[in-house]
Amino acid sequence: MKVTVIGTGYVGLVTGTCLAHFGLDVTCADIDKEKIKKLKAGQCPIYEPGLLELIHKGVAAGRLHFSDQTEAAIPGAEVIFLAVGTPPAPDGSADMTYVFEAVKTISKCHKGYQVIVTKSTVPVGTGSKIEAIMAKEHSKESFAVASNPEFLREGCAVGDFLNPDRIVLGCDDPKGLDVLLKLYKPMRENDAPIVVTNRATAELIKYASNGFLAVKITFINEISKLCEEVGADVMMVSKGMGMDGRIGPKFLQPGPGYGGSCFPKDTRALLDVAKASGVKLKVVEAAVEANEDQVERAVAKISKAAGSLKGLPVAMLGLAFKGDTDDVRESPALKIAKRLIEAGATVRAHDPAAADNATREAPAIKAFPDPYEAASGAKALVIATEWNEFKSLDWEKLRKALSAPVVIDLRNLYNPEQLREAGFTYISLGRQ
Ligand SMILES: NC(=O)c1ccc[n+]([C@@H]2O[C@H](COP(=O)([O-])OP(=O)(O)OC[C@H]3O[C@@H](n4cnc5c(N)ncnc54)[C@H](O)[C@@H]3O)[C@@H](O)[C@H]2O)c1
Repeated sequence: MKVTVIGTGYVGLVTGTCLAHFGLDVTCADIDKEKIKKLKAGQCPIYEPGLLELIHKGVAAGRLHFSDQTEAAIPGAEVIFLAVGTPPAPDGSADMTYVFEAVKTISKCHKGYQVIVTKSTVPVGTGSKIEAIMAKEHSKESFAVASNPEFLREGCAVGDFLNPDRIVLGCDDPKGLDVLLKLYKPMRENDAPIVVTNRATAELIKYASNGFLAVKITFINEISKLCEEVGADVMMVSKGMGMDGRIGPKFLQPGPGYGGSCFPKDTRALLDVAKASGVKLKVVEAAVEANEDQVERAVAKISKAAGSLKGLPVAMLGLAFKGDTDDVRESPALKIAKRLIEAGATVRAHDPAAADNATREAPAIKAFPDPYEAASGAKALVIATEWNEFKSLDWEKLRKALSAPVVIDLRNLYNPEQLREAGFTYISLGRQ
């Protein structure tokens, strides 16, 4: 089966590469010529563990191709995935420009029977709009429009795609659904659970999932505030809660707020969809508001521990929105760094993969290739991203490098007693 993936970013590249791994003939197309040039040269334009090896395998097997000519990649494909960005518009709704531009290109080049599938996260009703654009030029029998939302997590995207918790297929056209069931046959044979439903429901499953996870993260962040006031330990609260099968331990770690390219924009877009439908989603609304407070809470903790921010040299470990990624979109770490700089601090940072992306967005951040150089002369050390390698730092070396032994751990990575015994003033979230 021939497949085209339009948009070769975090989702499109992983989708295309993994589908090629399962034996499909895949062309990943993107308008970003630099991205395609890198891929053709055997390089991966994003940091995603395990992806480059799989790209090399797919290319070597002759099943994975890259093109900066989206038009040319459309005829001949039985399935066309839309994996372009759906960034937030200023009013919080999803900006659908890239999706509809790509659909216009598909319509221009459409041939034979083709199934158009949204992998991008799109508001409910987008499938119907795509159908209407296509129907202006083509008979309704020549195409189907389906929703197949993606749930992968950056940092473990390949594993998530190959072994998904579920595959959601929303298609109101039985012929289109058959094509997608055939496409996913290898994964279904690997026992991947599958949810088949109508298109609008599939579209909503994605937003509802992200809305729920954002609420869960925000809930534990709120509880961590209460822990600080009543002498409780949020890590134990989280553990005790997570052992309940009805709750589960995931997304129950306190931190500087949810970020990344999905939760912030998807929660706002969900609220926008609800508003347009005359429904008030009070819980999601509260989560969005509470999450926005987390950055200020972090900045307040830093200034309480280290004193006036004016002229304060701060070392920051982590700039990515989470560990194992170079993505800084809506990264709380980056937001905190920017706020510190606005308040007059200097930020010396280290991130194993995201420093280039972060300094492009905030050139005032001084990036260093290792944590000890970043710490040199700083009066506070902020742990902002939960990279695994930050779990085994040389604290003796850090204490010598810092000009004041103050650690503000926004990820609760360390044992408070051990850090205090090692001579640090140690502040974390929801613990004494
Ligand atoms: N990143 C994630 O973890 C994740 C997870 C699940 C779902 N999603 C959703 O998937 C979608 C894509 O996200 P992403 O993070 O991969 O975005 P991204 O910005 O990394 O990639 C999008 C790509 O689409 C390309 N593009 C835009 N218009 C195009 C066109 N007309 N033709 C060809 N290429 C075009 C861009 O150049 C870019 O390379 C979004 O809707 C997002 O919400 C993302």
